[in-house]
Amino acid sequence: MEFAFQVKGKGTEILKDKKEGEFIDILGPLGQGKFEYEGKKNIAIIGGGIGIFPLYELAKCAKNTAKINMYLGFRNKDLVVLEEEYKKVSDKFVLTTDDGTYGEKGFAINYLKEDLSKEKVDAIYACGPLPMLKAVQAVSKEMNIPCQISLEERMGCGIGACLGCAVKIAAGEETVYAHVCKAGPVFDAKVVEI
Ligand code: FES
Repeated sequence: MEFAFQVKGKGTEILKDKKEGEFIDILGPLGQGKFEYEGKKNIAIIGGGIGIFPLYELAKCAKNTAKINMYLGFRNKDLVVLEEEYKKVSDKFVLTTDDGTYGEKGFAINYLKEDLSKEKVDAIYACGPLPMLKAVQAVSKEMNIPCQISLEERMGCGIGACLGCAVKIAAGEETVYAHVCKAGPVFDAKVVEI
């Protein structure tokens, strides 16, 4: 088992100092976090920042049955991680940095959009910052491409008790709340309000 994380606060600061052989308590796996890629032949995967991590396992599993176009965006060169690992599980690989210090300059979504105008894909899978997810959601709706997104939320309990991770979901005519920790983190882009 491997974990990838970015040191961002107290918790991850403690985690980074753990040594091999030390024990940690883990609650999980939690939620229903499964991308549905079965039967898709041509897929696009787009991730940004720490949102790239859940997409690795998806690409690894889907690689045997699908052609994978991968788009990863980072703020700058210093934040680029696992490039070689992601390349190995992609047929097409595009890496962008917002400031152009590494890879292509600009946002990953723009490269995805450009390719979608030339090449049809069966589905899009995304995880990353909200502006990226909103843009992916808009493109998928506009082009009528099935799309699943994995949401990131601060989580207090992980089991649906604290209500800290609620998101709005369209259920027919109504809007209801779902917990990212329990019903997600993977949602159909058509129904989730982000
Ligand atoms: S983290 Fe507590 S309800 Fe989701």
